[in-house]
Amino acid sequence: MTADEGRNNLRVVFRPDGKQVTVDRGTTVLEAGRLACIPIDAVCGGSGKCGRCKVKIDGKTITEGSEHLTEEEVREGIALACTSRIEGDLIVHVLPRYRLGKHQIVTKSVQKMPERTTPWVTKRFLEMNPATLSDNLADRERMMRAMDDARPEISLEGLRDLPSALRDGRWKVTATRSDLAGPVEIIRVEPGDTRGSAVGIAVDIGTTTVVVDLIDLDTGEVLGTASDFNRQMTHGDDVIARMMFGEENGLDELTSLARETVNSCISRVMEERNEMDGERLSRQDIVAASIAGNTVMTQFFLGLSTDNVRLEPYVPVTHHIPPMKAKDLGLMMNGAGSVFTFPSRAGYVGGDVIADVLASEMHRSKRTHLLIDVGTNGEVVLGCRDWMVSCSCSAGPAFEGGEVTCGVRAMDGAIDRLRIDDDLAAKYHVIGDRAPIGVCGSGLVDLMAEMYARGVIDRKARIQERDSDRVRTGEEGLEYVIERKERLHEGATSDLVITDADLQNILRTKAAIYGACSVLLRKTGKDLGSLSSIVIAGGFGFHLDMTRAVTLGMFPDVPRKKYRFIGNGALGGAKLALVSKDARRETSKILNKMTYLELSVDNEFYEEFSASLFIPHTDLGRFPSANHANDWRDVA
Ligand code: FES
Repeated sequence: MTADEGRNNLRVVFRPDGKQVTVDRGTTVLEAGRLACIPIDAVCGGSGKCGRCKVKIDGKTITEGSEHLTEEEVREGIALACTSRIEGDLIVHVLPRYRLGKHQIVTKSVQKMPERTTPWVTKRFLEMNPATLSDNLADRERMMRAMDDARPEISLEGLRDLPSALRDGRWKVTATRSDLAGPVEIIRVEPGDTRGSAVGIAVDIGTTTVVVDLIDLDTGEVLGTASDFNRQMTHGDDVIARMMFGEENGLDELTSLARETVNSCISRVMEERNEMDGERLSRQDIVAASIAGNTVMTQFFLGLSTDNVRLEPYVPVTHHIPPMKAKDLGLMMNGAGSVFTFPSRAGYVGGDVIADVLASEMHRSKRTHLLIDVGTNGEVVLGCRDWMVSCSCSAGPAFEGGEVTCGVRAMDGAIDRLRIDDDLAAKYHVIGDRAPIGVCGSGLVDLMAEMYARGVIDRKARIQERDSDRVRTGEEGLEYVIERKERLHEGATSDLVITDADLQNILRTKAAIYGACSVLLRKTGKDLGSLSSIVIAGGFGFHLDMTRAVTLGMFPDVPRKKYRFIGNGALGGAKLALVSKDARRETSKILNKMTYLELSVDNEFYEEFSASLFIPHTDLGRFPSANHANDWRDVA
């Protein structure tokens, strides 16, 4: 019997982080990684299907075989973290390719901020006479007397602040007032004159990433930004995997992971701000929060069941989300601070899309606009100030690094731009200027467009035999070699390739996006000529080479100047709602005028989708500029 046998407290050390945890025998390496806060990529949430959680293990485990592991990898001790059960003390090496690295999170948003802010939280300076034996009114009533407008409510937190604030401030205080929930409520009382120091946070809770902007409520100035991976990522890349986890294990973990991610961003942005200018802002100064997320992320964050979002007819718990207090959501800010959450149109068109529309201003325009947000799910909105129709297409995770052998998220080591030269070798740019680990969404669009232009793939995205060592037959049929193993990241066990199956996944994703756009235009009797602009929202759109994306048939072929990019529209909308009462009211108007089209049961969508499973489309007439493929090949 070895020393490990019979022992239950087993030590697992993760390299290169050096973090260690003690776990019970039988725990999976992925679970141990979660305990140690090691960012192992777990696209399928630990079901053994995606092959993305590869680690190198020194020590004893019971490991299931997997089609995702090559013989060479098995020989080198590489295994899937999610199917490896710990049987002794271990050292686990997390491979760079399968680690959630520093992410190119899009924190930039393009929206017109109002010239004058009108936040729902404001500060008011008050002076009053001291309490005396002849004027012994209670503290609360004394403060109310000093206000000449309607008498507000006061929160318990405000009441707790009140006695010391009045006396420390020698009967001069600043009252922080919120009218988010309707009647004005005093949520904080501070001694002296503290006007000008109210701050709020705008939060984008994405499936992959979370971004927090710290905003001066008086000026609308962004004081700092922090972002991070959504800590729910180790329970799966997409919302379906996480909803299934929630159904099996309850919501608590998913809710607390979402809140932990937001709170860690709040901590970081506060630290950075305070380091920068020495101004000691405290968490108590954060008195308002505006939150935008897709329906599933929003419901997880609020602790609401998502069971009915996953199942037909895919309904959310609520469209309108009532105002809440920060303390009820575990947010590390002033507990009495008020929280506005964007409403959701449908199970798969959530508050992030309403925020996109708000940031794009299409809801104010007389003319028709098309908005496309490409993420793990694609959402499309068509409309103007009088009407809007929205839909969601399960675009699949191909552009987020999923379901593609060489795919990774846009992070350090990801190829984000690529060209193929005359001898079919790939020339590329890598985020972070380091050896490549894989290809992210914008790189995949370039790769496919270049392969098409060079005749490496045909119109059905099938690889063609070529007289070149860049095209060869691999385990899954023909494949194109993007880069040789020797030039990849340390520990790479095979060449970086793209296979026919990968290309079909990308083709389906682009077909779903284009099909969704076409079906909305068709159902509303609009054509491309009637569009004033096509708005691209989301991180992926920001880095995309539009000419190549159009050549593939992913987006409509219209003059490029019609395309507008708003970056992180969810964050942009959240900022607007935080500093503008009008913008906040408009979210309800957008919700009410937006209809939702369920594509999963729509025959027209399937027709459009099938017709789009070609490069660029079965109907070449829809893509006149793609017929000049070589005109754009040399465009940098
Ligand atoms: Fe392990 Fe997907 S195979 S997380």
